[in-house]
Amino acid sequence: MSDYPFKHAGPVPPRRMIDREDERRRLGRAAAERTPVRLAAPRRYGKTTLLAAHAAALEAAGWRTVRADLGGISDLAGLTRALLVAWAGHREAAPVRRVERLAGRIGADVSLAGPRLTLAPAGATPADHGRLLEELLALPDAVARSSGEPVLVILDEFQDLLVAGPGLDARLRAVIQPQQDVAYVFAGSEPSLIARMFERHEAPFFGQAEPLSLPPLPLESTIDEVERRFAELALDPGDAAATLVQLGEGHPQRTMLLCHLLARRLTEPGVDGDEDAHVAAVLEEALEQTAEIHAAALAPLTRLQRIVLGEVAHGRAPTSADLARRQGATRGAFHQALEALIEAGQLLARDPGPRWRLIDPLLRLRLRR
Ligand SMILES: Nc1ncnc2c1ncn2[C@@H]1O[C@H](COP(=O)(O)OP(=O)(O)OP(=O)(O)O)[C@@H](O)[C@H]1O
Ligand SMILES: [Mg+2]
Repeated sequence: MSDYPFKHAGPVPPRRMIDREDERRRLGRAAAERTPVRLAAPRRYGKTTLLAAHAAALEAAGWRTVRADLGGISDLAGLTRALLVAWAGHREAAPVRRVERLAGRIGADVSLAGPRLTLAPAGATPADHGRLLEELLALPDAVARSSGEPVLVILDEFQDLLVAGPGLDARLRAVIQPQQDVAYVFAGSEPSLIARMFERHEAPFFGQAEPLSLPPLPLESTIDEVERRFAELALDPGDAAATLVQLGEGHPQRTMLLCHLLARRLTEPGVDGDEDAHVAAVLEEALEQTAEIHAAALAPLTRLQRIVLGEVAHGRAPTSADLARRQGATRGAFHQALEALIEAGQLLARDPGPRWRLIDPLLRLRLRR
């Protein structure tokens, strides 16, 4: 089903995006001003979904949009490949064809059939890739000038730029700083790393980038929307949908996963039971599906970090003198463990208060068992 309303992996199409109106407005305004934006949010929080909606809105207004996914790149060749793939849809622009010809000459095989391309590492030297990179980074400006259309460049999983090579952020900055009719969005799933990349003193251009983060989805409007979607599927979830959205605590992917599992249960032949039974069965299934992911997330943590997560999951203070005494550690050590978790930005977030919240509601439920 291509328009299944409870898609729970990968970006969802703009018409299926819940909320994010405020973020879309801010992105739109920044693009109009050509102010760069840095978007940082935990994994699976809807970054790519939001950016796809932003790009679609700008395209409708006559912009050209390019999205490069830097996720998983490990060297310069990976970076140039990601940028070539991103530009492959704009071959009708002469500057793009020129860069592709250069890529071909240095041994990068750019298939005209589509963005499936392999770079032959044997032929190309790092210097070749360096030159190709300069040309690729200059493309937005060249295309904007030659076509007269403003260009939006989205660099997703931007933190991986630093994995590709030291100093690449400085090179990127030097090339894009003077670009006139280009708007940039730098998006990443490691909030602390993204912040560091932009806040370093020697990063003046990045320093101007407007920070944007993604809050949890608002529960009330999410419940309304989800109930509309169950009706669309001709399913009657009773109160189970609202209960599950509440248990999802506004985490976009977890909320969709819970709704998906409920929809599936409601369509299974011969399943009955009351709403409580539905909720319990869906939670059980969701915890089973996330068991490996949670185990992998907990594996690298220290003993104190695990204790901190457990305390927060139970709604208790994670750095109290009493806890420190019981666990035979200092309060300072617990503070450090807490800060390290918040800094990493994947498991624990600081809520206004200040209080702490597990980012993944399913991990919270698991730790409370
Ligand atoms: N605004 C939204 N409305 C409805 N569902 C959403 C929304 N944002 C995210 N989701 C859900 O979260 C899932 C992941 O979304 P998306 O891929 O956009 O997140 P991401 O932050 O880019 O994730 P990753 O860290 O894997 O790159 C989607 O499949 C969808 O189920
Ligand atoms: Mg993404």
